[in-house]
Amino acid sequence: MQLISRRSFLTLTAGAVAGVVHQPAAAADPSTPTLRKAFANDFLIGAALNTAQIDGRDAKGGALAASQFSALTAENDMKWQSIHPAPDRYNFQAADAYAKFAGKNDMKLIGHCLVWHSQTPAWVFQGDNGQPATREQLLKRMRDHIHTVVGRYKGKVMGWDVVNEALADGGSDILRDSPWRRIIGDDFIDQAFRFAREADPKAELYYNDYGLENERKRSNCVKLLKGLKERGVPITGVGTQSHFHLNSPPLAEVEKTIVDFAALKLKVMVTELDVDVLPSRGNPGNADINRREQGGDRSNPYTSGLPDDMQEKLAKRYADLFAIYLRHRNSVTRVTFWGLDDGHSWLNGFPVRGRTNYPLLFDRNLKPKPAFTAVMKKSIK
Ligand code: XIL
Repeated sequence: MQLISRRSFLTLTAGAVAGVVHQPAAAADPSTPTLRKAFANDFLIGAALNTAQIDGRDAKGGALAASQFSALTAENDMKWQSIHPAPDRYNFQAADAYAKFAGKNDMKLIGHCLVWHSQTPAWVFQGDNGQPATREQLLKRMRDHIHTVVGRYKGKVMGWDVVNEALADGGSDILRDSPWRRIIGDDFIDQAFRFAREADPKAELYYNDYGLENERKRSNCVKLLKGLKERGVPITGVGTQSHFHLNSPPLAEVEKTIVDFAALKLKVMVTELDVDVLPSRGNPGNADINRREQGGDRSNPYTSGLPDDMQEKLAKRYADLFAIYLRHRNSVTRVTFWGLDDGHSWLNGFPVRGRTNYPLLFDRNLKPKPAFTAVMKKSIK
């Protein structure tokens, strides 16, 4: 049955596939080919969504997401600054809406993220009398936050990005110089995982980072993960963000990353996939949201549309990536795109502000691009 619907997809025109976005999720034709059906036997297929897409304000976007994806991540709403903006104030409104949306549409909800150096309010790291927090103060704050947030979504969140981006991008230290590490010490990672496990004995618990296709960062990550396992820290999987460009990183490094992590007996997830098609001057492997590149005349070449040859390059890149993910479907448990459509991608603002980027499978009108077709074709075995 599945095979028939996968094959019939190839005879559909892009227009027919696009038609699905104009209907509410519940009314979507069950025989319409979708990513979630096409990869149902391989891995979860997810998207990062924003508040409007899940609370009904962007009903078209919500319907497309629900029909195409089997997993969702809140792009921003479960980060510390959104969910816990002040010491005595949590804001669960948006996160609750994600949980409801996921339940209603039979999607797995991923919690992103608990401990990170970005999008965390300054008060978290402040102590008394203008001093930085002490180790004890910060550990208590971390434990309270994790227990409150993870506890609330117990049974609703399938897995948490417990620690995000703790690895350094250069220098001699393995770990990034973050306030978490400076104040608590290197064991802040162990502690975060242990608190998360206390708060939800069943949730999957992940370490998540970018740039792991770089050999040096990857080998540091392997060291970190091995250490966690040796110390009995409760980790289930590793997320490789996968903020890629058309030509970097090389496919061989993408594949090696999956193989190296799978060898640690951890679930491997592609957690924030997108392919930047715009010129880059800086270090394309560095997805630290605090990094900025200067724009300039030639930095934003496709403001009135992506030329066909570039569409094809993007489609080929996605086909090559999915060929790798499918080869390793015994270890890859989820592939999540960082955004639903080109109009809602963070890459329109990073690392250069105000550009027109085309990194995802759906265009600004929510229509499937050639890259969508290329990915769907890969699902036919
Ligand atoms: C990004 C969001 O997409 C943006 O909307 C926000 O302004 C900054 O953060 N790595 C991560 C994600 O783990 O949380 C980041 O998301 C992208 C890089």
